[in-house]
Amino acid sequence: MIIETFVLTPFQQNTRVIACEGTRKAICIDPGEWSDELVDFIKNNDLKLQGIALTHGHLDHVGGTTDLSRAFPDAEIILHKHDEDLYYGLPRQPLFLGIQPHQMKAMGFDYAPPPQLTRNWEHGEIYEVGNLRFSVRHCPGHTRGHVVLAEENERSVFTGDCLFSGTIGRTDLPGGDYEQLIASISENILSLGDDFTVYCGHGPETTIGREKESNPFLNINRE
Ligand SMILES: [Fe+2]
Repeated sequence: MIIETFVLTPFQQNTRVIACEGTRKAICIDPGEWSDELVDFIKNNDLKLQGIALTHGHLDHVGGTTDLSRAFPDAEIILHKHDEDLYYGLPRQPLFLGIQPHQMKAMGFDYAPPPQLTRNWEHGEIYEVGNLRFSVRHCPGHTRGHVVLAEENERSVFTGDCLFSGTIGRTDLPGGDYEQLIASISENILSLGDDFTVYCGHGPETTIGREKESNPFLNINRE
């Protein structure tokens, strides 16, 4: 599995290209904004971008969808249905962050309406990218329609804004729910296995074992 990370947007979001080495089929998980480097990486490595795989609908994870979709028009765009309101409401999302309409352009947050989704994630589906098989797990709590993608053979999980190294996603934005997030992490991420590498939507990678041991929000071994 090829994994290339691009740290984008003022929120330092991890946009990733994941590809099957054998077939060169690839996905982009969460294009935060336009990036020449990202597009060049796909083209220069002879990758075939089959999909734009969105973990959730927040602007720092979907803001580059319009441009990436223009560059690779055959790539499908997939998001859970419970985050469609966030996705199609992208031009209004800066308001949640206290950015007023007259400030949006100057601050780089003037988004066009994003392209139509191709389809929605279904909890439990297996999404194939060449020889890679991602199990799609609905993990509400940070947003209502957040999903994580787990590749069991590669012992890797892409957790978006559910779980980070040493912390968890914020739950104070619309659709957030702290108890639900903790339950989602416990049921759908920690259950994968301690040896899984966790690729987070912001910040460094970690492992499930390390988070079980030391993440103060999870508290697994201290009851
Ligand atoms: Fe988010």
